Amino acid sequence: MSLDVLALRQQFPILAQQVDGKPLVYLDNAATTQKPQAMIDALVNFYTQCNANVHRGAHYLSDEATRRYERARDTVAGFIHASAREEVIWTSGTTEGINIVAHGMSKRLKTGEEVLVTEMEHHADLVTWQQACLQSGATLKVAPILDNGALDIAAFETLLNERTKMVALPHVSNALGTLNPIKEIAAMAKAKGALVLIDGAQGVAHGQVNVQDIGCDFYAFSGHKLFGPTGIGVLWGRKAVLEDWPVWQTGGEMISKVTYECSTWGALPNRLEAGTPNIAGAIGMAAAIAWFQSLDLAAVQSHEKQLLAHATEQAMAFEGLRLVGTAPDKIGVMSFILEGSHPADVGFILDKQGVAIRTGDHCAQPLMRRLGVPGTARASLSIYNTLEEVDMLFKALKKAQMMLA
Ligand code: ALA
Repeated sequence: MSLDVLALRQQFPILAQQVDGKPLVYLDNAATTQKPQAMIDALVNFYTQCNANVHRGAHYLSDEATRRYERARDTVAGFIHASAREEVIWTSGTTEGINIVAHGMSKRLKTGEEVLVTEMEHHADLVTWQQACLQSGATLKVAPILDNGALDIAAFETLLNERTKMVALPHVSNALGTLNPIKEIAAMAKAKGALVLIDGAQGVAHGQVNVQDIGCDFYAFSGHKLFGPTGIGVLWGRKAVLEDWPVWQTGGEMISKVTYECSTWGALPNRLEAGTPNIAGAIGMAAAIAWFQSLDLAAVQSHEKQLLAHATEQAMAFEGLRLVGTAPDKIGVMSFILEGSHPADVGFILDKQGVAIRTGDHCAQPLMRRLGVPGTARASLSIYNTLEEVDMLFKALKKAQMMLA
């Protein structure tokens, strides 16, 4: 079955907008996805019908809010195939999820031990592990990439050893679109006794994530890259690992017993969720997931593949355009340089034609240095984009090239 993209677009009110009198061509989906009406309705419905705090009230609204909030956790658990609902920890987003893991690890890592990341890390993963190593005395190792942006698996394997206590890498690179073989990597890392964290921010909206099948210990992702709201995300952790994970923040909700002298902690998942949570965000995220799950996933994937293939084909035929990141396994992202132009100027001219892309270092400064570029222009695709929009991107790029020549 093919995806009825035009019908699907009708569900995203923002896509009907014009920018400077031109139809909006939204190609910044790796930064954040647009929101379907079903998700927007879930937020409005929560605030108009059952806004209250969760887990604490002695009244109808609080009970209803708690039911919806906890049902949202079940939706996420089912979506990623968690083996238990307590494995789903609400966070503010991928970055906070990674920080919870790194904070816990920094209390356990010792001098001489190692954390292994990759050259394609987003700052959220790189800086967080760098700081955890600096605090603990452990050493940060960085596995190289090949010139096409694929992970150098042979080099990665060489760097992995019994001193490696944590392996952290992206499911999909936000800057290059490289899809990493995370199942194979998790198996290699587990064989050496390391824990494995996958930064799933860019992976989760493009296919079926099965955390048990991947074999990792942690998988962190954000609601807003999955058609949901900003400010909400999930850290999935294997229950046996999470059970004694050092507490992240202290406060209400996460305790069991409190005296003036000391406190004891509650059970998962609340132990890692101090304070009033983002209740509407969790409910909105679950609505977005339910909406996403109602689509034919095979059709979604085939549409996205077709979009990227169409974009890549045109990019290769475009004189003066250099693709950055051409790994054989790629998802949804086309990073490029228009020779002789600064990416920011390209982005500015595209914007004037209604085409929204991201330019810059994509929160991956060391990766840009490794690739020898100051930054790139990045068009990132999602399920509601059309082949015609890809054509509009290249038409706009032609104009940019002429203006910047
Ligand atoms: N990490 C997001 C991006 O790649 C913000 O644009």
